[in-house]
Amino acid sequence: MLSTETLKPSEVKIGIFGLGFVGLPLALSYAIRGCQVIGVDVDQNLVNELNRGVTHHLEKYHDTPIQEVLAEQLHNGRFRATTDAREAMSQCRYFIMTVGIPVVEGNHDFSHIESCSRAISSGLKKGDLVLVRSTLVPGMTRGFIMPILEETGLKAGEDFYLAYSSERIAEGKAFDEFENMPSLVSGINETSAEEARRLMSIVTKELHLATSIEVVESSKVMENISRDVNIAMVNEFARFCEALDIDVFEVIRLANTHKRVKLLTPGPGVGGYCIPNALHYLTPKADELGVPLKLLRTARKINNDIPVFVASLVTKNLPVPASEAKVAVLGIAMKDYSSDDRLSPALEVIRLMQMSGIKVSAFDPAVPSNYDFKVESLEEAVRDAHAVVVLAKQDGIGYNNFRLFRQLMSKAGTPVIVDTKNLYNRSEVEKHGFILKAI
Ligand SMILES: NC(=O)c1ccc[n+]([C@@H]2O[C@H](COP(=O)([O-])OP(=O)(O)OC[C@H]3O[C@@H](n4cnc5c(N)ncnc54)[C@H](O)[C@@H]3O)[C@@H](O)[C@H]2O)c1
Repeated sequence: MLSTETLKPSEVKIGIFGLGFVGLPLALSYAIRGCQVIGVDVDQNLVNELNRGVTHHLEKYHDTPIQEVLAEQLHNGRFRATTDAREAMSQCRYFIMTVGIPVVEGNHDFSHIESCSRAISSGLKKGDLVLVRSTLVPGMTRGFIMPILEETGLKAGEDFYLAYSSERIAEGKAFDEFENMPSLVSGINETSAEEARRLMSIVTKELHLATSIEVVESSKVMENISRDVNIAMVNEFARFCEALDIDVFEVIRLANTHKRVKLLTPGPGVGGYCIPNALHYLTPKADELGVPLKLLRTARKINNDIPVFVASLVTKNLPVPASEAKVAVLGIAMKDYSSDDRLSPALEVIRLMQMSGIKVSAFDPAVPSNYDFKVESLEEAVRDAHAVVVLAKQDGIGYNNFRLFRQLMSKAGTPVIVDTKNLYNRSEVEKHGFILKAI
């Protein structure tokens, strides 16, 4: 019989597998509400850092930085991290999977999902709930994860519960969106869905029950692809407006006064774990089913090629030959106000500029990754540069410090600012003696 009772957080023990951009704030969201959470990750350095209270994430719970939330939950003992899956499996009843499927040049790496499923399987007990929140190729919960879990001899839906809920958070808004973004959930059977609903209700206010796991898996991938397609569209509009010499951002702002139009914003490309990978999560199943996905593949290619356009916009506007030029890049994160540079289009723009002989110095105080082109200050970035290229917005970068730019940048020819973020006002930039090129 279905139980509609709510769970008492203080009685809930959860093992969360994967402590990345999704897993860590999700684990803390449960801990804040009184649950006991053991976070499991295979990355020993990450686990050590988290147990010391260190994270590079930029999330905030209301106004409290994630670092303070983490410190408090470690201190009160409601959260700790481990690499030992058996510890979590023996102590908890609820398990949430948040590990990903990396895609490198179109090739999927399913090994994280497989090893995580095996780790859960090795300690699965009667009555446990496994809730998958990773973004998957539709069909994988039932066709890939469930068989591994059932190698225990336990049957999904009878001996243990198996459910799927897509993760819809945006990095930087995770705590708020775990709570306030409506979430979809489904189970291998009705009781699994209900178990998942009760667990999710501790954090999430609005849940929509779907008739099958495949509906939720597909919806997630399609939500992300829809953004990919819409971004490709506005980037085509940007190319058109540039050729016509009109401001694409003005066009978009005015077009959006139409009540049924909602154009997105063009930029230097599409990055991060979610949107660039989304099509690749649909194609294996679409190929199997013989569905061509022509528009979606074209949109992906358009977005993939934007860095080529940005790099050539820089190269052709430099006051000196590329082989003698230095370019200052401001912002390398995959999106504004993020520390995440996975699949960041900025990295591709930098690679392409370097290939044409340009020396690049990039400044981004929020991104912790190390690169040989990365510098620690705006001064270092712009010193002797012939161009400034803005690829992501971050706090702590003096984008409008024209005086510093003029003082430190090369005096060979007129310096250029390439703006992919609609940051600058043309007349102001020109008043300070720069050429402005905006996408
Ligand atoms: N980042 C986002 O904004 C976002 C939003 C919605 C959905 N998603 C989806 O959520 C999932 C996680 O994304 P993420 O950005 O948190 O990824 P991430 O790379 O930041 O985190 C994944 C973590 O899983 C760990 N891991 C790998 N194999 C493991 C295993 N066998 N056991 C335990 N831990 C293991 C990794 O070490 C890593 O720390 C992906 O499916 C992604 O598509 C991400």
